[in-house]
Amino acid sequence: MSQDPSSRQPVGPPSSDRQPPERPSGERRSDNTLAALVAAEGARPKTATEFVEATLKKGILSGALPAGMALRQEDLAREFGLSRMPIREALRQLEAQALIDFTAHKGAVVTEISLEDALDLFAIRRALETAAFALSIPNLSPDDLGRAVEVIAEIDTEADAGRLGQLNRQFHMTLYARAGRPKLLTLVEAQLASYDRYLRFHLSAEGREQMAQDDHRAMVEAAATRDVAGAIAVLERHIDTAADALTRFYAMRDGAAQVE
Ligand code: NI
Repeated sequence: MSQDPSSRQPVGPPSSDRQPPERPSGERRSDNTLAALVAAEGARPKTATEFVEATLKKGILSGALPAGMALRQEDLAREFGLSRMPIREALRQLEAQALIDFTAHKGAVVTEISLEDALDLFAIRRALETAAFALSIPNLSPDDLGRAVEVIAEIDTEADAGRLGQLNRQFHMTLYARAGRPKLLTLVEAQLASYDRYLRFHLSAEGREQMAQDDHRAMVEAAATRDVAGAIAVLERHIDTAADALTRFYAMRDGAAQVE
């Protein structure tokens, strides 16, 4: 069915001698930004999809494409000089990394992730998860701990951002599952689900070492020896480290934006 050879060819920035698009002046800035990003990405031996994904990702993480900005497929196709197929596929990849959301009215929109919301979530996670973990540890069976170890191994080999988010949730829930407090666990799971997009965003921005697998291993080890205080200390560190890293990322990004 492939009518679109461009999706497999290496591509560079489109030629610059096209007519400027006609549209309301309020949208000029975003078009110029896109054009600049496309030009800056330069010619690389990538597929069209990878080229679009890398260019937009850089723009979103740097803040050049601001939160809430609509990314229309026809605009992108024109700016990149590509058909819609690789554009659509790139947008799907970006959605998996929580860098864009698909909305009913505007289509693809740059994700609105605020540091304040993220820090709020970290505070809630810290309170709820430490309570659940402390209650669960005395009741964790060797099977439960074995399952947690398996999830750690899966995380080590998983490349897909969306799947990494699920696995992180599964790992944490496995360790809290024996708390014997179903309502508390429902709250914990809901917060972890909301946290998922922040985690995917964070992984995309800073790389997979942000999964902090050493913490995951240390949590299992402490739980295995019923060292509640030790396990809780690791979990608190796990959450605080992630909060600090995200804070630093935003500070760096906003600092860079002010220099421009
Ligand atoms: Ni984790």
